[in-house]
Amino acid sequence: MPGDKSISHRALMFSALAVGTSTATGLLEGEDVMATAAAMRAMGAQITRDDDGTWQINGVGVGGLLEPGEALDMGNSGTSTRLLMGIIASHGIKATFTGDASLSGRPMGRVIDPLSLMGASFESSEGGTLPLMMRGALPAVPIEYTLPVASAQVKSAVLLAGLNTPGITTVIEPVPTRDHTERMLKGFGAKLEVEEQDDGTRVIRIHGEADLKPQHVTVPGDPSSAAFFMVAALIIPGSDLLIENVGLNPTRAGLVQVLREMGGSIEEVNPREVGGEPVADLRVRHSELTGTDVDPAIAPSMIDEFPVLFVAASLAKGTTRTSGLEELRVKESDRLSAMAAALTLAGGNIKENEDGLVIHGTGGEPLSGTPEGQTVTTHLDHRIAMSLAVAGLASAGGVTVDDTSPIGTSFPSFMDLLEAASD
Ligand code: S3P
Repeated sequence: MPGDKSISHRALMFSALAVGTSTATGLLEGEDVMATAAAMRAMGAQITRDDDGTWQINGVGVGGLLEPGEALDMGNSGTSTRLLMGIIASHGIKATFTGDASLSGRPMGRVIDPLSLMGASFESSEGGTLPLMMRGALPAVPIEYTLPVASAQVKSAVLLAGLNTPGITTVIEPVPTRDHTERMLKGFGAKLEVEEQDDGTRVIRIHGEADLKPQHVTVPGDPSSAAFFMVAALIIPGSDLLIENVGLNPTRAGLVQVLREMGGSIEEVNPREVGGEPVADLRVRHSELTGTDVDPAIAPSMIDEFPVLFVAASLAKGTTRTSGLEELRVKESDRLSAMAAALTLAGGNIKENEDGLVIHGTGGEPLSGTPEGQTVTTHLDHRIAMSLAVAGLASAGGVTVDDTSPIGTSFPSFMDLLEAASD
């Protein structure tokens, strides 16, 4: 599997904030991560790629970012945008963010609110969206902020603003989300404490005016990319697939748990640690899947994997019910409505609720596929495109996808790997 997208963004950002030269290997070279690299370069970091695929990042130090001369074009990437807004919030510079049609529809109010409390100011488009201009505060003011939505991006934005803020900035997370920011900031030498309370709430404190030390980062493989191959192997008869280099951080591994509950055969081979994260190879074999009720509490640890879970559920025996998934409506597309429409067109039996889908599976029979001359719509969403490619493999007539170009944002080698795996 190619490098983890979340970790790759952070590797570039934190290296750019360290004083000296960091390296990153296994970095995901997808469009989203390249948008982060371009933005960090525009603010003074030197970032180059060696022929062997090692990235060299010469950082400017916390507080040392320069004002970008032009608007930062974030393409499709919500993670780049929200985390960079956090970093810039405590630098004395201004920046303008632009993005594609998908990103320009996504809510930024969730980061504007806490970063405004820290002293940054914003002029956004209507509804708190891009294009957006912001001015950081120097010095920024430390805050204690309880996340109103379970979002690793919002958590990270506040913690990153806290890096260059005097005193201690605190984020209270009632529902745990991916913790790559916390792990990696500690690795770069930031003083950060995480307190786990009895009810599962996490209190994260970052000490400001931090000095980050350059690191050698090895990026583990992306479980969100592996998800497409896990589901493909489970639903296509005769499959026996070894997926190498899959990150299994517990805050990301919800899909493995749900697929196992559905009867999926997923074996962890050669467990190891890569870049401070648990990693294994996964041996996945075709299995008879049974529908399940997915506990909404597990959603944050598989938030990007629901589109492909819906494909697995469409081939399972019985009914799968999901709920508590309002956040899926504000991802790269409205993933509940996009997947309901696409799977219905491909022959699935789906009911769309406000906060989730109810899916009656075929019991292993292939889906019919898209009717002659009709295509499913991906809405500039890479995960919709890849999920429907997997559904196509498990269909009698094939699924025609309107636009596969968004796949390049997170998984440029997807089509080649899928073809190789299905030979
Ligand atoms: C991400 C957090 C999640 C996820 C996104 C990557 C991150 O978003 O959906 O693909 O790298 O922090 P939210 O924080 O909006 O849930």
